[in-house]
Amino acid sequence: MNNKYELIYEGKAKKVFTHDDLDKVKIEFKDDATAFNALKKEKFEGKGKLNCLISSRIFEILIKSNIPTHFVQLENENIMIAKKIRVIPLEIVLRNTAYGSLCKQTTIKPGTSLSKPLIDIYLKNDELNDPLITKDRIELMNVLSSHDLELIINLTLKINVILKSFFENIQLKLVDFKLEFGYDTRNNILLADEISPDNCRLWDLSQNNDTILSLDKDRFRNDLGGLIEAYSEILRRINNFLKTN
Ligand code: TMP
Repeated sequence: MNNKYELIYEGKAKKVFTHDDLDKVKIEFKDDATAFNALKKEKFEGKGKLNCLISSRIFEILIKSNIPTHFVQLENENIMIAKKIRVIPLEIVLRNTAYGSLCKQTTIKPGTSLSKPLIDIYLKNDELNDPLITKDRIELMNVLSSHDLELIINLTLKINVILKSFFENIQLKLVDFKLEFGYDTRNNILLADEISPDNCRLWDLSQNNDTILSLDKDRFRNDLGGLIEAYSEILRRINNFLKTN
């Protein structure tokens, strides 16, 4: 990044820099992958670029469906310009199919289709290991108003409808995903962060049998290998679909 721009924040997978326009930021996507609150860490050359491009395409699709997002434009393959936001310290996970922590913490079997989307909310706090949190605890901590919480839950459900059908078009099953929201400088709620195989579980539907083929960060979390190949395949399918539709 041009050293004219100041680093505001560095997360596990992204760096946020100032922009000439004070209402905007530059987000650089890193090649680092972490799991289990960064207990596990590895660099994958090209991951930052893939996630930046995938996220940009997805944000554009959501914006066309009137979802308010922080995305402004791509600056280059691994830098995105976004609106400056105040992050709401919650991670909103929506699950269509049971997998991951849901199956570790309940008796629900991996791969079970959920009759309606399940929303699990986590407190975004590395020191506390992002605990699962209740609406009452959110209210108690004054994280945000119940009105705004309902608003982000409804936005998440709407985003699920759009993304589920988009991914189905490219033979991918949207198992679950994690979203983050924030307030812009005018206090509007916007979808923020990224939407990529780092924070979505995507299973290949073009398999002939019932085996699960993960094309997402589970390749790293579960030591399956082939992370860059999987992310490249997602970008390839998205680009092909957008070219012909
Ligand atoms: P989980 O099954 O581990 O709770 O993950 C649910 C979804 O949320 C999955 O798509 C991965 C995503 N996720 C993140 O993006 N960041 C995280 O820190 C965690 C734990 C999950």
